[in-house]
Amino acid sequence: MQLDNAPLPSIGILGGTGALGGGLAFRWAEAGLPVTIGSRNEQRAAEAAARISTGIKGPHSLNSAGLNECAANADVVVIAVPWDAHQETLTQIRDAARGKIVIDVVNPLAFDKSGAYAPSVPEGSAAQQAQALLPDSHVVAAFHHVSAVLLADHTAETVDTDVMVLGDDLESTKTVQELVRLIPGMRGIFAGKLRTAAAVEGLTANLIAVNRRYRTHAGIGLTNVEEAAHATA
Ligand SMILES: NC(=O)c1ccc[n+]([C@@H]2O[C@H](COP(=O)([O-])OP(=O)(O)OC[C@H]3O[C@@H](n4cnc5c(N)ncnc54)[C@H](OP(=O)(O)O)[C@@H]3O)[C@@H](O)[C@H]2O)c1
Repeated sequence: MQLDNAPLPSIGILGGTGALGGGLAFRWAEAGLPVTIGSRNEQRAAEAAARISTGIKGPHSLNSAGLNECAANADVVVIAVPWDAHQETLTQIRDAARGKIVIDVVNPLAFDKSGAYAPSVPEGSAAQQAQALLPDSHVVAAFHHVSAVLLADHTAETVDTDVMVLGDDLESTKTVQELVRLIPGMRGIFAGKLRTAAAVEGLTANLIAVNRRYRTHAGIGLTNVEEAAHATA
């Protein structure tokens, strides 16, 4: 399998021990991508890689490492840590991520007795904070509305949802759209530059309200977007 006629990139997932990162690791490793789980604790990373491996059909490449080694050895780095850990994690991998695509899945969210809401972020959004902290990387925001539960469900052959892909570097957003397409059921759709990421991140609070009301794992679907249109965007 190839990515737009290029070799498949290796993926390093910081926070791959967690729900969303672990789900992406499972889906991409099953699709044939070399994946490394990155953690603050190498033992935890190794345990997560072993656990995820048991659910993957067929040959695959799934390794584990500390955060810096994970970012340094990957072609594409994914940031899948809680908002509280976003700034600290990015600061650590600034050199290791130089020149690379960094996919940021982080939703800055806060909770009170009325439910989830999007707090204000000084840089505008998590994605803009990432780009400010990693000026020599190509930050792409994606996967904000994908359910970790469905991603990790080995019995679900597809994860039927659209993924809004945002970034300031067009080639990087196209690469991430291709990475989205490798997960059966998903479409990656270009949805703007990083300065518009706050709305996309904040929409997750609305999805959480949907999930609570209807006891489900809702995703998003964009209508009237042709495959060809987003492939050439
Ligand atoms: N869960 C979802 O359905 C979903 C969907 C879309 C987007 N997201 C976004 O994806 C990100 C990860 O979500 P998640 O649900 O996968 O989170 P999670 O399971 O709570 O945490 C992911 C990993 O982050 C690492 N981490 C680093 N610093 C941390 C800290 N200070 N406190 C706690 N953990 C820390 C931990 O790995 P180590 O301890 O091994 O380092 C942990 O396993 C969030 O920003 C979220 O907004 C989540």
